[in-house]
Amino acid sequence: MNAPLKIGIAGLGTVGSSVFRLLEEHAALLSSRAQRPVAVTAVSARNKGKDRGIHLGNVKWHDNPVALADDKDVDVVVELMGGAEGAAFDLIARALENNKQVVTANKALLALRGGEVLALLKKSRGGISYEAAVAGGIPIIKGLREGLAANKIRAVYGILNGTCNFILSEMSSTGRDFSDVLKEAQAKGYAEADPSFDVDGIDAGHKLAILAGLAFGCVPDFSAVQTKGIRNITPLDIEFAEELGYRIKLLGIARQTEKGIEQSMEPCLVPKSSPIAHVEGALNAVYADGDYVGKILMMGAGAGGKPTASAVVADIIDVARGRTLPLLGLAPDQASALKPANISERIGSYFLRLIVLDQPGVIADVSAILRDCHVSLESVLQRGRSPGQPVPVILTSHETPEGDMLKAVGLIGKLKSVVEPPHLMRIETFGSG
Ligand code: NAP
Ligand code: HSE
Repeated sequence: MNAPLKIGIAGLGTVGSSVFRLLEEHAALLSSRAQRPVAVTAVSARNKGKDRGIHLGNVKWHDNPVALADDKDVDVVVELMGGAEGAAFDLIARALENNKQVVTANKALLALRGGEVLALLKKSRGGISYEAAVAGGIPIIKGLREGLAANKIRAVYGILNGTCNFILSEMSSTGRDFSDVLKEAQAKGYAEADPSFDVDGIDAGHKLAILAGLAFGCVPDFSAVQTKGIRNITPLDIEFAEELGYRIKLLGIARQTEKGIEQSMEPCLVPKSSPIAHVEGALNAVYADGDYVGKILMMGAGAGGKPTASAVVADIIDVARGRTLPLLGLAPDQASALKPANISERIGSYFLRLIVLDQPGVIADVSAILRDCHVSLESVLQRGRSPGQPVPVILTSHETPEGDMLKAVGLIGKLKSVVEPPHLMRIETFGSG
């Protein structure tokens, strides 16, 4: 048997403790698959005394996680602390300086500091594996970087945040309250340390930026992702969307266009007949569209300790087998800067929820603005009758440039009879009409 691969884990929270447990429980299986034993030799976390439900035994403890990078008994640094700043970046940088292999689940760091990471990689004989950073247990990084390596990728899109999908599914199926479901997602270990990253679409936007970088061979650029979260979605939106034949999903879309790369992460209405409408709970689903392969779909658990540990340990096995690949599937200096497309030129149809005073002329005023902005209506729905009182009105549009729709919504929001900020969502039919 070959020499053991020595692992140092920084971070023993939801993911780190699951990784530790998996490595212990499947030690024999992993050692036969990797053709060498895989052993945790050192760990680090903030609080040494915390009960994590794991037995550390003789494993060395470092108060400072960056010390793992200099530890002679660590071949692979597994970074599971999170955050783009501070200890996580310092640890990864030091490990690469020491020509070590790094395995991480840290999407924030890769999406926000991908350029710096590539610069470090240029000078290192080490490498970074990051399957767990996108879509939890789904092997989408392997899928894009290896399985689809022969294709020009036209688009990557899907559901990339387990917490949001869990919240939207529960709100839709049980009518439960947003904050109550968020608490449950936190208890199940789906949410980020700061759950606003989840519900504001930031975490999923980080993942989309990484997928776009990999798919299109460019440095991940989160600043070019149009990001909206799910806080404004009300039971009323869910109810009306259902009535119109749609479900609401937080959807990420990265698309190569003639004018550059479009990246958006926002709640969208998807037809109930589409497979993505039926992705429920903390599941994620990712489509990739390649010029030779066509569309492929991968679906599975997108968050939580065990599925994420599955992805982290798959990377560790690759390292043990000596099979590591460049970050974006090409040499670090071949990654280009991302050229963003102007998203306001994107064409789409829209769902607009208004709360208006039930009085004569309101719909006429709204229609006049839409007409002046060249937006054509497909349907108008109003439920109930309460003269002089606020009532919901739902409009759906035909296909229109996003910029025209946004201009119209801005003007509609200023009408005296519109008593709440309008809520606009894209209807995404994935090119199927
Ligand atoms: P978590 O439960 O909050 O755990 C974070 C761990 O890092 C804790 O053990 C914490 O120590 C330790 N830590 C934080 N800052 C530290 C520092 N400066 N020095 C030493 N230790 C430090 O987070 P998590 O959910 O496991 O997530 C870890 C990473 O995986 C993040 O990048 C996250 O985005 C990513 N991820 C998470 C999931 C998921 O479903 N949870 C899925 C995919 C990817 P203490 O325990 O002592 O406080
Ligand atoms: N907070 C993330 C989610 C964890 O809910 O999807 C997985 O990356």
